[in-house]
Amino acid sequence: MVEKRQKAMNMGDAINDDLLGLPMESNLKESQANGNSKSMGMTIDDVIAECKLFYLAGQETTSVLFTWTMVVLSMHPNWQEKTREEVLQVFGTNKPDLNGLSHLKIVTMILFEVLQLYPPGVFLIRRTYKEMKLGEPTLPTGVQLYLPILLIHHDPDFWGEDVEEFKPNRFSEGVAKGSNHQLAFFPFGWGP
Ligand code: HEM
Repeated sequence: MVEKRQKAMNMGDAINDDLLGLPMESNLKESQANGNSKSMGMTIDDVIAECKLFYLAGQETTSVLFTWTMVVLSMHPNWQEKTREEVLQVFGTNKPDLNGLSHLKIVTMILFEVLQLYPPGVFLIRRTYKEMKLGEPTLPTGVQLYLPILLIHHDPDFWGEDVEEFKPNRFSEGVAKGSNHQLAFFPFGWGP
């Protein structure tokens, strides 16, 4: 597939706006901007590895999120009803579009609540690249830290005694107000 696309691109054919076309196009532009230097772009193996990464990082995570969303909505028909009403109110019988998505308040609260209770990524790893102070302790270089998203998302100290309950309303005032600590919700990570 990659070779076929490469040939089409070299012939000047339009590139598909898809998972494979995008990195290949960006790669072509990068190497053209640097005098067609091959060393500036990614190798074919890099492009293949990026595609694999997107499948794992992008597809698995979203499908886990949507699966749990369906599970909790079937367990909580009252929320299912409210969600359906909101979607119909915003989109009617039209196809959902990006603009409308930002008006979905209940859907957003539900997705946050599912990400809190069932985060697709359950922990993150960080490593100290130099000695650093983290609160009280000072950590030497090369310490690997496990940041347990799942445990922090279920900690009553941050979320209250009702932490295990499905309560989308805890996010009614936005994502930062769901817990009593701004950093207690990090289903997508929180930078370096
Ligand atoms: C519900 C949806 C998603 C969740 C919960 C999620 C969660 C995460 C988490 C926890 C990380 C690690 C962040 C860190 O280490 O600080 C991550 C990294 C990443 N995610 Fe997502 N993600 C989601 C959707 C997506 C989608 C749709 C894409 C792309 C199509 C994507 C692409 C990536 C990439 C490229 C990385 C970096 C991987 C690396 O460091 O090698 N993610 N994501």
